[in-house]
Amino acid sequence: MEHERDLLDEIAQHVRVIGDLDDVERNSRLHWNARYAAGGGPRKTTPHPWLVHHFWRLRPGRALDIACGMGRDSIFLARRGFRVHGIDFSAVALSEAQRRARAADVSDRVSFILADLTAFAFPREHYDLVICFSYWEPKLKATLREAVKPGGFIIYETFNVWWKWTRPEVEERFLLQPGELLNWLKDWHVWAYREVGSDLPLTRGHKAVSSIVAQKPRSG
Ligand SMILES: C[S@@+](CC[C@H](N)C(=O)[O-])C[C@H]1O[C@@H](n2cnc3c(N)ncnc32)[C@H](O)[C@@H]1O
Repeated sequence: MEHERDLLDEIAQHVRVIGDLDDVERNSRLHWNARYAAGGGPRKTTPHPWLVHHFWRLRPGRALDIACGMGRDSIFLARRGFRVHGIDFSAVALSEAQRRARAADVSDRVSFILADLTAFAFPREHYDLVICFSYWEPKLKATLREAVKPGGFIIYETFNVWWKWTRPEVEERFLLQPGELLNWLKDWHVWAYREVGSDLPLTRGHKAVSSIVAQKPRSG
């Protein structure tokens, strides 16, 4: 706890703190902070291939990166002209994300926000792009859709139920059901969709993920 308080003090000058964390989420936040502080968690600096692959579809604008971790995708977007909000509840991860943004000379285009996503008030029709990699919270389905401007995009990729074959300890509520992303955005234009896992030898390092690129209708 002492160590975590020190970290929070250290980054307070760079990061805006919004909202309070309830007890359940605090436990989970402590888990993530401990994981990152011990050198674990996702630490790559390269953006996710699904985002890079579909980037050509996008025009620079306002982007939201939920569960941004150490900021790999936020920084990728900021370097390409987006103004980005990256949200995560791990102070340890955001401290590193902020350091990386400074090193990439994009700290004026990306704001990292320390907040619990399940208690965050997303602005309505504010973002041209919402991205998320490796996080799923069904409670956010409605508010994330609403946060996107007409004509804007959601690019999403996270673990699906087949991940349990390799990671039986993962709680099923954090995993996507077959077709869940498609169903979530079924009234949007779906440019790309895939489900990896059901027919792949996951033991050879494949990750069981579902991925989508969808665009909100411009009207209606
Ligand atoms: C698997 S990591 C993904 C990080 C990043 N998107 C990446 O792929 O490098 C999941 C992230 O979700 C964050 N997280 C989990 N629950 C959260 C919540 N309720 N509010 C905010 N962040 C949360 C964790 O702190 C962690 O950084």
